[in-house]
Amino acid sequence: MEKPKETTEQGQVKSRARVRDHGEVFTAEREVKAMCDLVRDDSFNPDSTFLEPACGTGNFLLEILSRKLTTVSSRYRRRPFDWETHSLQTLGSLYGVDILGDNVAECRERLFEVWDAEYARLFKSGKDEGVRKSARFILDRNIVRGNALSMKLVDGEAKDTDEPIVFSQWKLLSDWTKMRRKDFSFAHLLENAEEARATVPDSVPGGGHSRLPQNPADRSSLPRNPAPGEQLELFAVPPQEPSSATSGCGPGSAAGGCGRLLFSKLYPSRRVFDE
Ligand SMILES: C[S@@+](CC[C@H](N)C(=O)[O-])C[C@H]1O[C@@H](n2cnc3c(N)ncnc32)[C@H](O)[C@@H]1O
Repeated sequence: MEKPKETTEQGQVKSRARVRDHGEVFTAEREVKAMCDLVRDDSFNPDSTFLEPACGTGNFLLEILSRKLTTVSSRYRRRPFDWETHSLQTLGSLYGVDILGDNVAECRERLFEVWDAEYARLFKSGKDEGVRKSARFILDRNIVRGNALSMKLVDGEAKDTDEPIVFSQWKLLSDWTKMRRKDFSFAHLLENAEEARATVPDSVPGGGHSRLPQNPADRSSLPRNPAPGEQLELFAVPPQEPSSATSGCGPGSAAGGCGRLLFSKLYPSRRVFDE
């Protein structure tokens, strides 16, 4: 596995203004690794899901991606088709939010570079442009520019817009020609995580009731109460009308809802595109 770029001690701060305005101090590699080791099994498990609500340039997500790819590569190093498919799913299991646009762009790029370098290392001459495009598509949706406190997308001035942060859950369909994408508002994910935690006794590590952010966005317009049976592995979703994929919940859409079901085609080369 190629190692992700290191965050040096010097590289932990970009400017005093950014530290003052956004609390931007990046975590050094040693601490990142030590913290990831606290959830070691999950960090190597391609199926586990991670969300970094203040991801910066992606130091934690990068380490986790590297670990997960180690597992994927050890399983599928001789099977390009399988590696491509499972590594795309792995990319789809990592989510990030940051309020600063340059951090989001850098985070996406660094994640892509780690994934792409591993792809090249394993299958030197066989890289498929469609698969690479799919990787970028997933990262563009999963690494979001927004305010993790208000759960809204932000504009170029890092000010809240009216658009909610929406994440996509990716699931490979059994024929391996399509990925199902289901969109969830961040607010709902937190609400449901909150409900789920409330049922776990405090004695369980990570369990017990924890509070939502003090200043959440107005969530009254968002659908509530997931129907029984709609509990997914990690996310709980209220049922919604399937939408046309082109009117998804991402940046620029007027959607504002969540739980939208979309299908992204994996073309023969497994490109992921909206239908
Ligand atoms: C202390 S840095 C940590 C970055 C990264 N997690 C790391 O450890 O290297 C905090 C990050 O949070 C971002 N940030 C600050 N306020 C935020 C907010 N309300 N929503 C999302 N991101 C925010 C900053 O832009 C910055 O990148």
